[in-house]
Amino acid sequence: MSNTCLEILNQAVERLRSAGIDRPRTNAELLLGAVLNKNKVDLYLNKDQVLTSDEIERFTQWIEERISHRPVQYIIGTVEFFGLEFKVDERVLIPRPETETLVEVVIEQLAHKEKPKMIDLGTGSGAIAISLAASLKSPFIYATDVSKEALEVAKENAIKNKVENQIEFFSGDLFGPLKNENLEGQIDCVVSNPPYVSKEELETLPEEIKDYEPIVALESVKDGLFFHKKIIEDSLDFLNKGGFLALETAFGQAGKLADLIRQNENYSHIGTVKDLGGIDRVVKAVKRSAD
Ligand SMILES: C[S@@+](CC[C@H](N)C(=O)[O-])C[C@H]1O[C@@H](n2cnc3c(N)ncnc32)[C@H](O)[C@@H]1O
Repeated sequence: MSNTCLEILNQAVERLRSAGIDRPRTNAELLLGAVLNKNKVDLYLNKDQVLTSDEIERFTQWIEERISHRPVQYIIGTVEFFGLEFKVDERVLIPRPETETLVEVVIEQLAHKEKPKMIDLGTGSGAIAISLAASLKSPFIYATDVSKEALEVAKENAIKNKVENQIEFFSGDLFGPLKNENLEGQIDCVVSNPPYVSKEELETLPEEIKDYEPIVALESVKDGLFFHKKIIEDSLDFLNKGGFLALETAFGQAGKLADLIRQNENYSHIGTVKDLGGIDRVVKAVKRSAD
């Protein structure tokens, strides 16, 4: 049997297809591309390249992992988010493309501000905090997460993307670890993509998510807005007057979240923003400046 790039790729596609894995060719291309350090086009341009036994062994192992539903991003160990590369493994949620909308909303609001101070709650891999640190004018970001394991990954990602001097990471529940930092009334923006999957919904998710991604990153205690409600309330202590709140939410929840914020008279300019899939994904609001 031939050990050329194309042959090995085609065999893997069939193996993934017969195991019922979605988009078998894309998966096989991504995995083989990572083994050979080539992009998709180069894989086909080098279709006659003969693979070494080490390369075949590694690729075969990765295909087996994928058949067990381990997400491609965890197998490869990296993901691209907002044009940056992030290390990911089972300690952190894989940053999703829709979260780039949340980052864009914050950048649009703070693009002209020098040295904005921000808080990212539930930072996970650090995707939001690091993207903002790399995009805004000398920002400083206080990033918290209840998962110490996630913070280890986030710190590595901050170094990898050369923004470690612009972010301080804190371990604990939402704003809890920031209570002694004298930040009350000082913050220009609170941003968060908190867990928003209800217990019942969790069971219906694909194996890739429910068997591999950290449950603490997914599950919201009661309904999908448990964390959002706490953040809406507690942000008021930290935001300065005119400070900006931006929250990601689940499919179908943005209207409800916007209504919740409207019930709080301390917020104005409440709006929703669609992600690239046309789904209302982000809810934003401004802390009123009048006392
Ligand atoms: C949906 S993930 C978002 C991760 C990352 N910000 C992103 O957008 O890719 C939610 C994150 O919140 C963290 N988390 C869960 N409960 C928390 C809490 N009570 N306080 C702080 N972080 C929490 C989880 O560990 C997880 O990293």
